[in-house]
Amino acid sequence: MILKDIRNIYHSELDALFGKEEVDSFFNVLIEHYLNLKRIHLVLDPQYMITKEEEQPLFEALTHLKSQKPIQYILGETEFYGLPFKVNEHTLIPRPETEELVDWIINCHTERSQIVSKEPQTKILDIGTGTGCIAISLAKHLLNTKVSALDVSEEALVIAQQNAELNVVNVEFIHDDILNSRQTELVSVFHKYDVIVSNPPYVRNLEKAEIQPNVLDNEPHLALFVDDENPLQFYKAICEFAQINLKANGMLYFEINEYLGAEMIALLEGYGFKNIELKKDLYGKDRMVKGVK
Ligand SMILES: C[S@@+](CC[C@H](N)C(=O)[O-])C[C@H]1O[C@@H](n2cnc3c(N)ncnc32)[C@H](O)[C@@H]1O
Repeated sequence: MILKDIRNIYHSELDALFGKEEVDSFFNVLIEHYLNLKRIHLVLDPQYMITKEEEQPLFEALTHLKSQKPIQYILGETEFYGLPFKVNEHTLIPRPETEELVDWIINCHTERSQIVSKEPQTKILDIGTGTGCIAISLAKHLLNTKVSALDVSEEALVIAQQNAELNVVNVEFIHDDILNSRQTELVSVFHKYDVIVSNPPYVRNLEKAEIQPNVLDNEPHLALFVDDENPLQFYKAICEFAQINLKANGMLYFEINEYLGAEMIALLEGYGFKNIELKKDLYGKDRMVKGVK
């Protein structure tokens, strides 16, 4: 079949759902992924033919797109902070606002990580690691660090481990439940961290109406939602964990619910953190907070 005809089918079936530009962008990503063809190929050779076997994944992807499956899950991969990451239905798709959190941490810690020493200068723990995007990006960009990452989902940890290998970094993965303090004591036997970071579940059920159907139907609810009555449950548990496991003057970083910035500052103050900073994301929403122990 002529490749351009398949693109026309994409437009006729998907434009109403996503708009023409987004459909073009999906198609370009898919032909690059499955056929190793650049967008310019269609311009230079409008009559370019592909075989039945080559057509098949494009039509399968079309079916998934029609059912609103995110393209990252269709491809099984995405990009985060310039690095490749595998994703599947057990892992949240990393978000651009989380790249901003990673960037904040890298900017704050680059100088220290450049001090040459036999022992790692900075011990970092990422809680609720998912794909490992935060932990792996920090391990890749901050020299002289020892990075650990924890998640309650064994399936997510399988993907995170694969992502560490894909990006050629060493991260220690820990299977644990941060809400269960008895087990987290075990985690802490050998470690005191300089940095603890987390992007925990923080979407309240009352905010479900704001969530796109493709997110609600496809992304793991374990990674997203918290009770309306206790929306800071994870942050409280992590602050308590940090009281034991973070070194004096260690830094705690969180990605947060945009509506709960003031509550987050009050929470960190309540746990005795100093120099608390609330930071907005590119869209001007309260999105990150840090504090010093
Ligand atoms: C919002 S996702 C963040 C994933 C990844 N760090 C990112 O930024 O894209 C929250 C993660 O917390 C994990 N999680 C949920 N409950 C947990 C618990 N009780 N203990 C540890 N991790 C948990 C989920 O499996 C999920 O991977």
